[in-house]
Amino acid sequence: MLALINGVHLGHESRGTVGPVLVLLHAFPLNRAMWEPQMTDLCVDFRTVALDFRGFGESDAPDGPYSMEMLADDVKGLLDHLAVERVVLCGLSMGGYVALAFYRKYRELVQALVLADTRAGADPPEVRQGRYQMMEIARREGPPAVAERMLPRLLAPITFERDPALVERVRKMMEAAPTTGLVGALAGMAERPDSTGLLPQIACPTLVVVGEHDAPAPPAEARTMAEAIPRARLEVIPEAGHLSNLEQPETFNQFLRDWLYDEVVGP
Ligand code: MLT
Repeated sequence: MLALINGVHLGHESRGTVGPVLVLLHAFPLNRAMWEPQMTDLCVDFRTVALDFRGFGESDAPDGPYSMEMLADDVKGLLDHLAVERVVLCGLSMGGYVALAFYRKYRELVQALVLADTRAGADPPEVRQGRYQMMEIARREGPPAVAERMLPRLLAPITFERDPALVERVRKMMEAAPTTGLVGALAGMAERPDSTGLLPQIACPTLVVVGEHDAPAPPAEARTMAEAIPRARLEVIPEAGHLSNLEQPETFNQFLRDWLYDEVVGP
């Protein structure tokens, strides 16, 4: 489905009609299809909503940069469009950066937060530099070259061994991102602010979840982040890398469901 939000058509999908509204924010350079295992399973207990950020999936891809705040404003616009007032916001990696930007601006709407395989800090200089190089690669060689370079870091070695079908699914999702989307989001991530100072102010229940073998956002960083958030629970997912929700969907869903029942739905 498409909705016109802030002048941009955004792809989105809702499943389930009962329980708290769980809004799923995807990683870079993927799209809302990465949440299929969560939508399918969790929609029984929760109203699940997944959207494509501008530049990805079915959404329009205007010229960037797409700041994390701009993407958070798109999420807010979509919630208004869907007449949703309170959300459990779940962001993985870039989706987590957007979740933090959303919390900074619209905290009264956030019932609970899931920060999956993500980081609170801004980019160190060498990472920022790498993003500008990746923007050049995207412009010169196109999306498959970006996918080729990023894929090895997104999945755990054991996923490459055990699940070639998933590896290909992720590769195809990455290759489908248009160049303007890649460049717009890379520029936005490179310039995103440090959110470390926000962590002690996060008042809602928060689940920090991370794949045991996550290279871009390692478990040690997740632990530090969880320790800084007053009401956080940390879960580490065995045998998963950066895309923990896809690599170990059953464990991811179990952690998410248990935490939602403990912290949001109540006994
Ligand atoms: C992601 O998975 O969204 C990316 O790894 C985020 C990033 O490049 O920092």
